[in-house]
Amino acid sequence: MRNRVAVLHGVNLDALDRRPAQHYGGLTFTQLERRIDQFAHELGLEARFFQSNHEGAYVEEIHKASDYADGLLLNPGAWTHYSWALRDAVEVSGLPAVEVHLSDVEHREAFRRVSVFEGVCLAKVSGKGPDGYRDALAALKEAL
Ligand code: DQA
Repeated sequence: MRNRVAVLHGVNLDALDRRPAQHYGGLTFTQLERRIDQFAHELGLEARFFQSNHEGAYVEEIHKASDYADGLLLNPGAWTHYSWALRDAVEVSGLPAVEVHLSDVEHREAFRRVSVFEGVCLAKVSGKGPDGYRDALAALKEAL
């Protein structure tokens, strides 16, 4: 059964509760991961979590993910908007991927509207807070 999902959190997500609550909701990173784990469980998916503030470590985790996961759920934080290396890494992985953002990146600063993952991710969910991860997992499940 193809139900294993690598949930990969990028830069500054570990400091979620210290970031603007109007965008990120004020919950801790641990609380967020618990919610995601619960969503995954409800959908019959198995989530494995990773977070890094180091771009190279994040790239290497994407490369490795095909050894233990069937799909990628990505919130790379600010790297989303400029790290073409991450886009290439998703291609290397060969895995179906969905991009998710807690905040409404389409209606914030202009630079947040750019995503390097356009074309390599099968869906993008943003602006729905933690619930967006449920939608993103559901979209990924469709592809598995
Ligand atoms: C984010 C949006 C990004 O623009 C920002 O840099 C983040 C978090 C989100 O989840 O809303 O770090 O990916």
